[in-house]
Formats: sequence, structure tokens, C-alpha cells
Amino acid sequence: MVKIAPSMLAADYLHLEKDVKTVNENADLFHLDIMDGVFVPNISFGFPIVEAIASMAEKPLDVHLMIIKPEKYIERFARIGASMISFHLNATDNPAQTLLHIREIGMKAGLVINPDIPVESLFPYLHLCDYVLLMSVYAGFGGQKFIEETYDRIRSLKAEINRQGLNVKIEVDGGVTPANAHLLVEAGAEILVAGSAVFKSGNPSEVICALRG
Ligand code: DX5
Ligand code: ZN
Repeated sequence: MVKIAPSMLAADYLHLEKDVKTVNENADLFHLDIMDGVFVPNISFGFPIVEAIASMAEKPLDVHLMIIKPEKYIERFARIGASMISFHLNATDNPAQTLLHIREIGMKAGLVINPDIPVESLFPYLHLCDYVLLMSVYAGFGGQKFIEETYDRIRSLKAEINRQGLNVKIEVDGGVTPANAHLLVEAGAEILVAGSAVFKSGNPSEVICALRG
């Protein structure tokens, strides 16, 4: 069963409680995009917002770090109650150590790559990952157009996960809509992130339902 992770980047910050409830009642995870204005050319939100969401979240927090030196903030997100943390492969000098650290303190560990990074670069780290986040747009902004090459990338990654006999889930993030969701699942995705499609629609719960196929 595919998991739907609405991206709170697209939420209505003047009525955040409403959007948190929508996720609690209809979705599987809270996807939280943390941007530092350095690793990506945008700044999203920080700890006060994450803490506010955590205080009423009834679904696990899936934190997507788009920051340099993600290892510096792993413990802090763990204390807030994150269940999953992913960081970009090229944001740290020590991906293996960072993945181990995330697992050691009781969270699920994920590695992320942008669309221009070959999926093969993940292969040496797969045994240390609980999930891999494949960006289907360039990290940094919501509302971008889905990149079609993503399907082939999912298939290649899935084949390698199977070849290594691992249980690593594939998460896809960027431009996900009810129109491409089933194709992503068919290709091997198990977690779908969707921001604009959910929260910029007139009916978020209906869209979440449609994303399940
Ligand atoms: C982009 C973020 C995404 C973003 C997705 O850097 O990682 O999670 O919120 O937004 P949509 O679904 O609008 O492409
Ligand atoms: Zn994200």
C-alpha cells in the first residue's frame, strides 16, 4: 500500500491547524521540507513551525533536509519527534556515518538525490538506508513540473534494491499529482510526497484519496 506524505511547504500557514488535521485524517505522513538558503536557493521554515506541527500530529514526521551539514541537526529533529530523516547525498562529507547516526537514535534514515545525480551513486549506501528519496524536480521549490525521467530512475533503483536483497522503500518528491501517482507506484515507488496538488486544490482530502489510485 502506497503511503501519501503531503508536503507542508504548500500548507496554509495562517490556518496550519486545518491542514494538520487534513493530514491526520487522510494521509500517512507529514513531509517537512527544511531549506537553509545555502544548499538550495530558498528558505522554508524552521523549528517553531516543525514543533507546532509535531504538537498535534497523529502521523509520523518525515523530515526532508535540504541543508548543508545535515549531521548537525539530526539530534534536534529527533528530540522534536521526527520518525524519518532524509538528507541529500552531496550535502555532507559523511553520508554513511550520518545514516548510521539517524538509525542509532531510533529514526528511519533516508538519502536524497536531485534529478541530475545518477541513481548509481546511491548504491554503496543502500544497506544503510531505510528509504531513498528520489527528487522528481530540483529541490528548493514547490509547484514545479514533474520530470518524466523519474520513472526509469525508480525502476533502476528498485532493481538494485532487489539485487542486493534489501528492504529499502522508494519515496518520490516533486510534481506528484493524481495523474502520475499510479505510474510512480507501478514503477516501484512506495511513498509519494505531494504539496501543491494537495494543498493548492479546493479539496485536499479528495486529492489525497485520488493519489492512492
Ligand atoms: C521541493 C520539496 C518538495 C515540495 C513538493 O524542494 O522537497 O517536497 O514541497 O512540492 P510539489 O508537490 O508542489 O512539487
Ligand atoms: Zn521534500
